[in-house]
Amino acid sequence: MSITNFNGNVDANYLKEMAKLLEDIKDTSYQMMNLTPGNIALDIGCGPGVDAYKMAKIVGKCGKVIGLDNDPEMIKDAQENFIAANLEFAIGDVKNLPFPDGYFDSVRAERLFQVLSPEFDVDDVIQEIIRVTKKGGMIVVVDTDWGSASLDYEDQELTNRLLNFFADVCRPNGFAGRKFLGLLKRNNIKVTDVKVKPVITLEFHETTFGEWLTREALRHEVATPKEMDAWNQELADKTDNGEFYSCVNMVLVAGKK
Ligand SMILES: C[S@@+](CC[C@H](N)C(=O)[O-])C[C@H]1O[C@@H](n2cnc3c(N)ncnc32)[C@H](O)[C@@H]1O
Repeated sequence: MSITNFNGNVDANYLKEMAKLLEDIKDTSYQMMNLTPGNIALDIGCGPGVDAYKMAKIVGKCGKVIGLDNDPEMIKDAQENFIAANLEFAIGDVKNLPFPDGYFDSVRAERLFQVLSPEFDVDDVIQEIIRVTKKGGMIVVVDTDWGSASLDYEDQELTNRLLNFFADVCRPNGFAGRKFLGLLKRNNIKVTDVKVKPVITLEFHETTFGEWLTREALRHEVATPKEMDAWNQELADKTDNGEFYSCVNMVLVAGKK
């Protein structure tokens, strides 16, 4: 399973596999949106469309869900896999949402903020999300706090070095999750719920700390080839012995406009 495609973007199949692991977190996020039949809802950075499809089932045939992503390949994948009368997918950028003011009863963005490069002003991004939300409507943001990642490996100094590097450098905005509460509050959104859910992984190859981290750590000379060989070998052995453990927190914040 590849995490990034040749464009360096996240691969749609990887996101679909991750959706199974994150099912409970995703279901919780729909509840936090207060979705009810007849609602009009938006999923920004919808990827392959898994969430938009589930939301469309909740809002029913009198409602409507739009999934929006700036990657045409994601939208193509979503349109091929998820078809429903009350579901649309569109190409668009979170910086400039192609919808009128106050159009949606609720808006959601999952793992979008962590991929936004520093050129994005996250306050401008949240203001754009607020603009398309109805007064009294819900905004739900979900993201990984990569700074909370932990992993059981004997060399603690190397573990810290690699996990810090992953959060700081491999993710454009790796601490997005912990910043949501402050982001919503300073943009005058009434925060109604904050939840943190751990994602525990017991198989090394299911984490982002194998092939991807190894490639980037070597490229940036953060670790030596010898260190990375030992890392990959020992963590694969731990998986075989049933001793591999890794965990990272997902942060979910809901607020009312
Ligand atoms: C990590 S993926 C998460 C996808 C989906 N939310 C999920 O949970 O499976 C981030 C998604 O955000 C999209 N994205 C990145 N920058 C964007 C932007 N400026 N506007 C809209 N979507 C964007 C990417 O194409 C990608 O599909």
